[in-house]
Amino acid sequence: MPLNKDLIDKIINVTSTAAMSCYKFVGKNQKKNADKAATDTMRNEINKIDINGEVVIGEGELDKAPMLYIGEKLGRGGFLNLDIAVDPVEGTNFVAKNLPGALSVISVAEKGNLFNAPETYMDKLAVSGDVPYDATDLDFPLEKNIKNIAEALNKNVHDVTACLLDRPRHKKIIDKLKEMKVKMKLISDGDVSGALMVTKKKFNVDIFLGVGGGPEGVLAASAIDAYECKFQGRFIFENDNDISRAKKMGIVDLKKKYNLREIIKGDSIFCATGITNGDLVKGIEFKDNKYTSETLVTHKGSNMCKIVVREDTIKT
Ligand code: FBP
Repeated sequence: MPLNKDLIDKIINVTSTAAMSCYKFVGKNQKKNADKAATDTMRNEINKIDINGEVVIGEGELDKAPMLYIGEKLGRGGFLNLDIAVDPVEGTNFVAKNLPGALSVISVAEKGNLFNAPETYMDKLAVSGDVPYDATDLDFPLEKNIKNIAEALNKNVHDVTACLLDRPRHKKIIDKLKEMKVKMKLISDGDVSGALMVTKKKFNVDIFLGVGGGPEGVLAASAIDAYECKFQGRFIFENDNDISRAKKMGIVDLKKKYNLREIIKGDSIFCATGITNGDLVKGIEFKDNKYTSETLVTHKGSNMCKIVVREDTIKT
């Protein structure tokens, strides 16, 4: 198996080191500096690994992002060709304002297996594996999705919980959910975590839906894959610039609905290290000159989904 334990350990090291390096910016209201610290560290750490990596989801295009830009080659070289998706800080507001839920995130798959997503919004739907695959769909009316979930989980509609970003663009969805008396978990940011809430019963979320970042959608899909959950996404192209970028990336059908298997194929590793405490993982703790980090790690090939705790010292 090319994505073996040794590589998994090295990828855990990438996000945990990146999370530790931006810990000093927690609560400092410096979004850009926090992002830069995590981005620089992530890049340095990936460049220590014997891989031929290429960034397919990153901090933007070369002209906008000097580091971890889409198309950037990473790694020391070797025989393993990998696609890499990164979000050095998922929830920059959370770090800046010292709020729960900030993560440092990465996903890797063999070359050609991870979707090269444009930096546009994506309409998303994620549902637990306990709901039959055909019971929900991005193209179904919201009411039908909710009723089908309730039926599949043997619950009343008012006991179904839907998680979505609290945004004005979701007014119609929120109004409909209210009318149906569905419980809502309205998050202020961080929809990779939001989508991951469907992976375990303990999070009490039955469906994640709504419009968020496309790159975050690809990262969420790759995490959810190891939990056998459902994910669908459709990019939203708002202007000519978005459309021409999408076309350059090879997207022909601009209205296409992508199923999980079209976003991530084959084996993959996903790691999300907590920067601040959250539902998924604890944030960085600093004590006695040592940092403790918690990372959610999934590996599709070995059906592994676990939390790894690491203790490190960091030289700054
Ligand atoms: P950043 O960490 O890059 O700021 O992203 C946070 C986030 O909440 C994502 O999780 C989400 O996909 C996106 O922003 C939503 O975008 P918007 O704030 O424009 O609705």
